[in-house]
Amino acid sequence: MTEAKRRDDIQGDILHEYDGIEEADNALPKWWLGIFYGTMAFGIAYWFVYHEYAWAPTQNDVHAAHVAKLMEERAKPATDALTDLAGDTAAVTAGAETFKVNCVACHGTQGEGTIGPNLTDRFWIHGGGAASIHSLIRDGVAAKGMPSWGAILGPKKVREVTAFVLSLRNSNVEGKEPQGNEYQSDS
Ligand code: HEC
Repeated sequence: MTEAKRRDDIQGDILHEYDGIEEADNALPKWWLGIFYGTMAFGIAYWFVYHEYAWAPTQNDVHAAHVAKLMEERAKPATDALTDLAGDTAAVTAGAETFKVNCVACHGTQGEGTIGPNLTDRFWIHGGGAASIHSLIRDGVAAKGMPSWGAILGPKKVREVTAFVLSLRNSNVEGKEPQGNEYQSDS
C-alpha cells in the first residue's frame, strides 16, 4: 500500500500525484458493485439455465419451433387449395383437355382404366387424397409405367389435370377392376 500523500476532505487519501493530477483510492459505490456482481451472477445463472441444463428454450429453439409450426400451417392450406380445385370448373375443363391428350391412352377416355388403373372408382393404389393424386401425377411411378408429368406439363397443367382426376373420383365408370385401397375422404 502506497503511503498517502495527503488527505482530502472529499476524496479521502490521495495516493499518487502526477503533474498535478491527483489519484485517490475510494471504495467503489455500493450501487456500482451491486450491478457489477449482479451481472456476473446473472451470467452464470443464464449459462446454466439456457446452455448447461437447457431448462429453458434458447432463442434458437423458440425460432426453430416457430418455423416448424409455420411450415406445418403452410402445408395444410396447400392441401385445402388442391381439394378446392375439384370445384374449380375452369381448372376441371382445362384439365379434361390435358387428360384427353396425355392420359386416355392408358387410363381410358373416361378414366375407366386400361393399362393404367381405373380413376373413377373408390380404390387408389397411391392414395385418393387430393395431395396424393397431385404428387403422383407430378412425380409418376416410373417402375410401373406411369410417366412423371411435372416436367412435361408444368405445374399449372398438373394442377388442372389433378382437378379433372378429382372430379372423376367416385364417378364409378364401368372399367378396370378396383386396385389398391378404398379411399374415404380428404381430411
Ligand atoms: C403410359 C401409360 C400411362 C399414361 C400415359 C398415364 N398413366 Fe397414370 N398410371 C399408369 C399406370 C401403369 C399407373 C399405375 C401405377 C402403379 O401401379 O403404381 C398409373 C397411375 C395413375 C394414378 C394413380 C392411381 C392410383 O390408383 O393411385 C393417377 C392419378 C394417374 N395415373 C393419373 C394420370 C394422369 C392425370 C395422366 C395424364 C397426365 C396419366 N396418368 C397418364 C399409366 C399411365
